[in-house]
Amino acid sequence: MQQSPYEFGMIGLGVMGRNFLLNVADQGFSVIGMDRDAEKAKALEVEAGDHRAKGTTSVEEFVQLLQRPRAIMLLVPAGPIVDAVIRDLLPHLDEDDLIIDGGNSYFADTDRRLKEVREKGIRFLGVGVSGGAEGARRGPSIMPGGSKSAYEAVAPILQKVAAKVGDDPCVDFMGHGSAGHYVKMVHNGIEYALMQLIAEAYDLLRQIGGQSNAQLAQVFGKWNAGDLQSFLIEITAEIFQQKDDLTDGDLIDQILDKAKQKGTGKWTSQNAMDHGIPVPTIDAAVTMRELSGLKAQRVTIAPSLAIEGNKNAPENLTDLVHDALLFATIISYAQGLHLLQEVSEEHEYELQLEAIARIWRGGCIIRASLLEDIRKAYDAQPDLKNLMASPVFAPTLLRLQANTRQLIKIAIDAGLPTLALSSALNYFDAYRHGRLPLNLTQAQRDHFGSHTYERIDRDGTFHTEWAS
Ligand code: 6PG
Repeated sequence: MQQSPYEFGMIGLGVMGRNFLLNVADQGFSVIGMDRDAEKAKALEVEAGDHRAKGTTSVEEFVQLLQRPRAIMLLVPAGPIVDAVIRDLLPHLDEDDLIIDGGNSYFADTDRRLKEVREKGIRFLGVGVSGGAEGARRGPSIMPGGSKSAYEAVAPILQKVAAKVGDDPCVDFMGHGSAGHYVKMVHNGIEYALMQLIAEAYDLLRQIGGQSNAQLAQVFGKWNAGDLQSFLIEITAEIFQQKDDLTDGDLIDQILDKAKQKGTGKWTSQNAMDHGIPVPTIDAAVTMRELSGLKAQRVTIAPSLAIEGNKNAPENLTDLVHDALLFATIISYAQGLHLLQEVSEEHEYELQLEAIARIWRGGCIIRASLLEDIRKAYDAQPDLKNLMASPVFAPTLLRLQANTRQLIKIAIDAGLPTLALSSALNYFDAYRHGRLPLNLTQAQRDHFGSHTYERIDRDGTFHTEWAS
């Protein structure tokens, strides 16, 4: 007797792919996974237990055993491997089959792939998946983009697999073309900014406040029960409690201060610059990862540039850090969402910012209680350009800015770097000024290069023969 075909397929059974597929199986769907590595294919079957799940190393078998039109997800490393997998797969597919790229693919690659496979009658979704290995297993945030009808074909599966906030699944159609991967890229840009801000908060509490890891764990734990509640704050509290297996101390103190990156934060900064949209806190986070990478140079140069900073801590240091962190966190979301709002039109994505905030409330790395207020802000004003201007957030920012300033002054006196925190405050200060000093920049451009300028009192383009 012939077996009934499998409902959902996965190529790439590394931790992410296997966990995602096991999650699909948990929801009652029959699944088949393909990986060239036989051990990974086997691991899927073992971990799936009683669920109907099959692992294979053969593309032919994989394709043959899938229900038609086939729904095939790829969770393989972003880049040329995605193209190679698609190339192997295409000859075996039939019209209307659906390929779902769930990796952190660069959005321009997704646009290209969409076009290439569409020409062959195959449907394609570029899908951002966030939440790491645990999220993939228990409920990630899922950001699908491509064609709405293709999304609708797999929506019943994705809605069950996704994290839930109340009854709301953390998945929704993001928009056309590469919208899903673009949104995921910006998610990661915000992720970089938040991580850097938390690192700076840690540095100030430790170096100026003299707080021990145990105290830091308590502070972050308390913050996680308040208006800073978020996944990143929660895991930070856990990190400070982790003992080291190899020494007597805490693990955090043994970890090299050199942060790696796969590139999504940098892509966000690069693309924001291409579009002329400022995201300075994301830029600062990328820059700090790069500075962290210059470990050997930093160690060499440190003695010759040593400064005795003033590290006197005010009594309310922890409160100042809390307020500055909350202030800069809001600003980081504001920058990322502003980029999405502006780019949506140019890329014809038709992004709905309310939907993005809604599906980021659960499952993803930047999930935070704050996102419910962000969602409300865009629900009330779908065309809101910048979150800072929302009546939901403007009063909060105004309330927090004084303490943010005070903290940054303390950090400057102490000689501690706060590139991300300061960039958030400077962004706020630049944005709220109707007039910036860049009239002078324009004058200089005209002076040395006859680049012309506009005037505030009349229309037109002007050039002056500047007195030298
Ligand atoms: C997520 C994460 C995930 C990955 C980052 C790490 O949303 O689940 O963002 O995609 O952990 O890409 O990025 P870096 O290696 O660049 O820090």
